[in-house]
Amino acid sequence: MNQVKGTIYTNARKGQVSEYIYSNFMEHLGRCIYPGVWVGENSTIPNDNGIRLDVAEALSKLELPALRWPGGCFADNYHWRDGIGPRTTRPRRFNLWWHQPETNEFGTDEFIRFCRMIGAEPYLCANVGSGTVEEARSWVEYCNSSQDTELTRLRAANGSPKPFNVRFWGVGNENWGCGGGMDPVYYGHLYRNYATYMRKTAPDIELIACGSHPRIPEWDGIFLETLKRAHHLVDYIAIHIYSARGMSDLNYSDDDYYDLLGQIQIMDEQLHRATALCRAYSTSTHQIGVIMDEWGTWYKEARTETGLYQNSTMMDAVFAALSFHLFHEYVPDLYMTNMAQTINVLQSLVLTEGPLSCVTPTYYIYELFKRHRGGTVLDLSCNAATLETPGGKKIPEVSISATYCAEKDIMHITAVNPHLSTSTNLDLTLDLRHISSVCGKVLTSAKVRNYNTPKNPDVIKPATLDVRHSDKSLSFILPPHSVAAISLNLTE
Ligand code: AHR
Repeated sequence: MNQVKGTIYTNARKGQVSEYIYSNFMEHLGRCIYPGVWVGENSTIPNDNGIRLDVAEALSKLELPALRWPGGCFADNYHWRDGIGPRTTRPRRFNLWWHQPETNEFGTDEFIRFCRMIGAEPYLCANVGSGTVEEARSWVEYCNSSQDTELTRLRAANGSPKPFNVRFWGVGNENWGCGGGMDPVYYGHLYRNYATYMRKTAPDIELIACGSHPRIPEWDGIFLETLKRAHHLVDYIAIHIYSARGMSDLNYSDDDYYDLLGQIQIMDEQLHRATALCRAYSTSTHQIGVIMDEWGTWYKEARTETGLYQNSTMMDAVFAALSFHLFHEYVPDLYMTNMAQTINVLQSLVLTEGPLSCVTPTYYIYELFKRHRGGTVLDLSCNAATLETPGGKKIPEVSISATYCAEKDIMHITAVNPHLSTSTNLDLTLDLRHISSVCGKVLTSAKVRNYNTPKNPDVIKPATLDVRHSDKSLSFILPPHSVAAISLNLTE
C-alpha cells in the first residue's frame, strides 16, 4: 500500500470553477438522438411527447449546466428550418458525415424542451460550412427575439410565444475539417461576417469561435490575428481534443492504460497554449475565454459504422476524473467543457438498449464532481510521486483537487488513484480550518475493464467511503483505479 500525505491550504484560493466545466455535447450521430433522446409520441418506451423519460430523468440528476447541439460535424450540414413545424411534414435529409438518414423529428423546439426537462442551458452551433449568414442570423431571431416578426410568430405557432433566450452560440464546428475544410484566415473573415449579423440580432448572445485541435495548434493565433480590431465579436475560442485514438476500449495492455492517462498532458499543453493566447488578445473591457467543447476518449471500436459506440468502462471514469482535476487548474480562463457525447456515442453518460437504459461510470464522475461547481479551487501540496508512462508522459501517483464553497462553508475534495494494482492510504491535513463532519463516496470496480450495460446496470456504482477524521485531518484508502469524493463541513 502506498502512503501519501498532503496539506490543503484553506485560505489559498486560486479562482472559481466555472460550473459550465461540467457541460456535455450531443449530436445527430449513431444512436445519440434517435433513440437516445427521441422515441416519438407513439413509442411504447415511456416518453413525454416523444422524449424518453428514463434518459431525461438520469440526466436531470446531473444538473448539466449546458448542452451543446446539433453537432459536431452534423452542425455544418444542418439547416435549422428543416427541424421546425409539424413533424409529419419535416424533410428527410442526408446526414453527410454519419451516413444515416435524418428525419428531423428532433429539431430546435424539441431540443429546447429537452434542455428544460433536464435543467441544462442550450448551446447551439450554427452552420458556417454549408449554410448562410442569413440562416444563422435568422436562427438567432427565431430563438431569441421578442419583436413581432414572421419568425417569432412561427415560434409561437410552434408552441413557444416566449423567446428561448439561448445564450451560447457556436459559429461553426471544426471548420478546418468537417466544417468546410477552411484555413484560419478564410474562417476569420467568414467569422466576422457571421458574428456581426448574429450579434446584431441579439446583442446579449455569447459567440464561440471554432478553435484548434492538437494537430493544428497554429489555427487559434492566425484566426485571432485575422480578426484585426473585431475581437469584441469573440467571447470564447472552442478547442477540441480526443484521447485514446487507435486504442481498444477493452482489449488493451496495462501500458496502453497508463498511456491513455498520460494523454491528459496533451490536453494540458493545449489548454496552456490556448488560455495564454486568449489572455494576450483580451482587453480590460473584453475577455476572450476558452471552451473545450469536445473532449473525451475515442477508441478504435467507435467507427461511423458502429455509430461511434464504444464501451465506457472504469478506465473512462478515471480518465474523466483526472481531466476534471486538470480543468480545475485552468480557472478562470477555462469557461466550459463539453464531453463527447451524452448518450450512446463515444464516452457517453447514458446508454440505451430498446426500452432499457443505464448510466456509465463516467456519469458517476459527473455526479460526484458536480459539488465542485462554483467552488474556489484551493492550493494544496502532497508528496505523491509522479509516474512516467511507457509513452514518456507523466501522471501523478495520486491526484487531488479541493474546492471551497463559502456560502455553505463546505470543502469538497476529490482524489484519484490511477494505479492498476496498488491501493493508497491518503492522509490530508487542513492548515487552518477545523472539520466538524465528513462524508465520502468512492467509485471503483474489481476490474478496470468493467462497465455497466442496460441489462446489467449496477456493475459499477458509487459506494460509501470509510473516512477517518480528527479535528484537522482526514485519512482514507483509495483502492486501485478508484475515484473518491469527500465533503467536509468546516468550523472555526
Ligand atoms: O464527436 C464526434 C465528432 O468528432 C464530431 O462530430 C466532430 O466535431 C469531431 O471531429
